Amino acid sequence: MSTETGPAVGTEPRGHTIAPGPKGLPFLGNLSQFSKNPLAFFERLRGHGDVVAWRFGPNSSLYVADPACIGELLTETERSFDQPALGIAFRTVMGNGVVVARGADWRRKRSLVQPSVRPKQVRSYAATMAGSTVEVADAWSDGQRVDIKREMAALTQRIAVRTIFGVDTAADAEAMGRAMDVAQQEIGREFAGIGALLPDWVPTPGRARIRKAAAVIDAEVGRVVARHRDGGSDRPDLLSRLLTAVDETGAHLTDREVRDETVTLYIGGHETTSSTLVWAWYLLSRNPRARAALAEELDLVLGGREPEFDDYARLPYTRSVVKETLRLYPTIWLVTGVAKAGARIGGIPIPQGTRVWTSQWATHRDPRWFPEPEEFRPERWDPESGDDIAEYAWFPFGGGPRVCLGTRFAMVEAVLVLAVLARRFHLEVDPGVINPVPSLTLQPDREVMATVRAR
Ligand code: HEM
Repeated sequence: MSTETGPAVGTEPRGHTIAPGPKGLPFLGNLSQFSKNPLAFFERLRGHGDVVAWRFGPNSSLYVADPACIGELLTETERSFDQPALGIAFRTVMGNGVVVARGADWRRKRSLVQPSVRPKQVRSYAATMAGSTVEVADAWSDGQRVDIKREMAALTQRIAVRTIFGVDTAADAEAMGRAMDVAQQEIGREFAGIGALLPDWVPTPGRARIRKAAAVIDAEVGRVVARHRDGGSDRPDLLSRLLTAVDETGAHLTDREVRDETVTLYIGGHETTSSTLVWAWYLLSRNPRARAALAEELDLVLGGREPEFDDYARLPYTRSVVKETLRLYPTIWLVTGVAKAGARIGGIPIPQGTRVWTSQWATHRDPRWFPEPEEFRPERWDPESGDDIAEYAWFPFGGGPRVCLGTRFAMVEAVLVLAVLARRFHLEVDPGVINPVPSLTLQPDREVMATVRAR
């Protein structure tokens, strides 16, 4: 069965051939089918075979649907596949942090950042995660109407600002949060729109807004870094850990590098976790049996107290709710790499320059790996009675060398937030279907209004 970073039942790559994909147009290839609805398009590609040829505009592309091939794509990143360079929007905000960096620079950054998000460190952030959620729970009352998207975004923002920057004064947190929000929204817009195709030098109103937000972020983060440097770095926040990190030559991160990594962690971790929580409330509201099982576990394990870090291990059903949510609504829904010379997938040699794609969304909903894939069944993650899930059939955090650095952080945060709130309340989401919009992360297509019900 699965761990957080990848399930355990292995699948050997089978001998594969490339199946032809859906017909496309001259020059544009399948671009218009892809842009109209990328989620449905990837599900459709899956129907053509395990390794499928298609065209992203004039570029030859492959889609891989078989978990063993997905594993090869993820684990061979860096050696056999390059990650496409990220656009100007990402670089303006995240600088040259670990998400943007490539090659040797990425390896150095990754080894510098990794210690600050190790399980042992995440333990020290757990009290802030639970405590910040208790503040929300204390403010909620029976019958209250809440906009869940807004509530979860504000909560995860507060947790991120406190755990990453150690900032707690309302004014500092607000200024930083606002600038990050603008930056994140504009990155999402550029990613999903025409901006992604424009050369870097083309000025657009969105890019101007991003530059303005980045300038505010620079000033805010600069002030926080200076304060940390003055006041010593023995605080329990991520920034302090980065200030003391040293690379193999004994060098520390510069202020600019600390700025880039903290902003990268914030942008990488905030919306992904907040959207996961929104989808979890939506799914729980539509599945009374799962909601009851969750409440039962929380009553049994926590009784009348608030959860703490050690409860993470004691709440398997709550963890399964998060995993099952990430299966049905993987907030990062797309992985892509560009083949280097000598790359192979499923035994097939891949010409250099071919773009290889896979999608968490389409794979997680493949009935071959998940029986009744549309059903929300946290029980399928039960190590004893659950489904046998093939390795890389579930990969919400990616895999291989570039696997999400915040996996543990995100899992612990989502479990603690759910535990604090679902112990006291259930959220009755208003009727109606909520559809996912595949932007930078998988977002609900509208506001998610709910009535708070005290348990
Ligand atoms: C539910 C929440 C989250 C999901 C679904 C998620 C998913 C992912 C995925 C799929 C990747 C790999 C992207 C790729 O293919 O290149 C990734 C990378 C990354 N994530 Fe997360 N993430 C989450 C939360 C977080 C959190 C909380 C943090 C920070 C505390 C974080 C920090 C990062 C960083 C720094 C990387 C880049 C790693 C590298 O390139 O070496 N993520 N994440």
